[in-house]
Amino acid sequence: MAVQESIIQFRRDPLRFLDQAFPAAGDTLWLPGRQLCVAGPAAARAVLANDEGLYQEHSDFFHTRRGTFGPRSVQVQIGRSARSLLNAYLAAHADELTASVRRDLVPASEWPDAGNWLVYRHLAAVLVAPDSPVRLRRMVDEIVERAVLAGARERQSRLRRAVFRFRVARELAQAVKQRRARGAGQPADLLDVVAGAAGPDSLVADLAEVFLSFVFAVAGSVGFTLGWSVYLLGTNPPTDAEPAWVVREALRLWPVAWMLGRRPARPHHVAGVAVTPQDLVVVCPYLVHRHPRYWDDPTSFRPERWATGHDQQAYIPFGWGPHTCAAASLSLQLVEDILRTLLDGRRLTLTSNDHRPCVGPALAPPRFRLSPVLHSAAMPNERR
Ligand code: HEM
Repeated sequence: MAVQESIIQFRRDPLRFLDQAFPAAGDTLWLPGRQLCVAGPAAARAVLANDEGLYQEHSDFFHTRRGTFGPRSVQVQIGRSARSLLNAYLAAHADELTASVRRDLVPASEWPDAGNWLVYRHLAAVLVAPDSPVRLRRMVDEIVERAVLAGARERQSRLRRAVFRFRVARELAQAVKQRRARGAGQPADLLDVVAGAAGPDSLVADLAEVFLSFVFAVAGSVGFTLGWSVYLLGTNPPTDAEPAWVVREALRLWPVAWMLGRRPARPHHVAGVAVTPQDLVVVCPYLVHRHPRYWDDPTSFRPERWATGHDQQAYIPFGWGPHTCAAASLSLQLVEDILRTLLDGRRLTLTSNDHRPCVGPALAPPRFRLSPVLHSAAMPNERR
């Protein structure tokens, strides 16, 4: 394929381009803009593990406009405090899921937005505590509406987006500053977790961006994972598969974080291909998870493949190595719990006009309408 033609095809529909080029291309594939896409599981793990320091230090989560927020010890501290706060919150509020599912998803709901809102509403109080100023809480709602939902950015002009980004950066930095002035204590929410990070006040703008990563992770990554799980259940023959297997299989076929970029620190070879610091090496969980040497029938939804556990060497939905997601287990558990609650006594009926994913920085499911239908004898109070 001519270079110009492949650039056009990749930009138009990146997944279709990757599907067509892979696996014939082998374990790596050059993309436009000197980006080497890595599909081989061993090479992908080696890039992300970065044991030999071949790549500049990087974590998508801690990436800000000024570079990477650091030092590493502070990143690790933020990840740990966030995880323990979330775990405690989820344990204390587990019994609210049934009400949330009924409120948001019954009798019908529009996806993938419904999944993002359900997860966000369930966890909004752990992002910003309920006793925070209403203006701040409303702004976080607006971030979800205008920056997290699938296709949200494309629905606004560049100018509107720039003005909104500016306002969010200013107001979040202000909020972080106020929390820092209040002094250290037990964090009440994830804003406290970032505000409590050690370092000079000049870091405030970066901390505001790290807080944004939390909003994207909670409402975006977890919400889309729920969306894919529901979509796959509703578009495949009925299954008795455990919700835990469904979630893992959804993240295998449609890893929300589908591209993880790293900049080489010096020239070297990746799976036999020479790269330099002018290139970007992009690990592609989407291709790793469909690698025919590691997965039987890789493009089919087969949740039962997880019944006996699975070799994790070709499974990297949460990254790999030092920057592996700090909230991987709790995210899986939360989606699993929501699915179990949704499926309790119901079967899923789903309609969709378009079955192509919504491709952006995160991989979101197509738009669909969900109508969970009660099995005959269950939950009579929902029939009213
Ligand atoms: C299904 C949901 C999620 C997925 C698929 C996901 C995926 C990922 C991936 C792929 C990375 C590695 C990025 C890289 O190597 O550049 C990562 C890192 C991270 N994630 Fe998640 N994530 C999810 C949910 C969450 C949630 C809910 C939180 C916390 C609220 C969270 C917090 C973090 C943190 C703190 C890191 C940085 C780890 C480090 O660099 O030390 N994630 N996540």
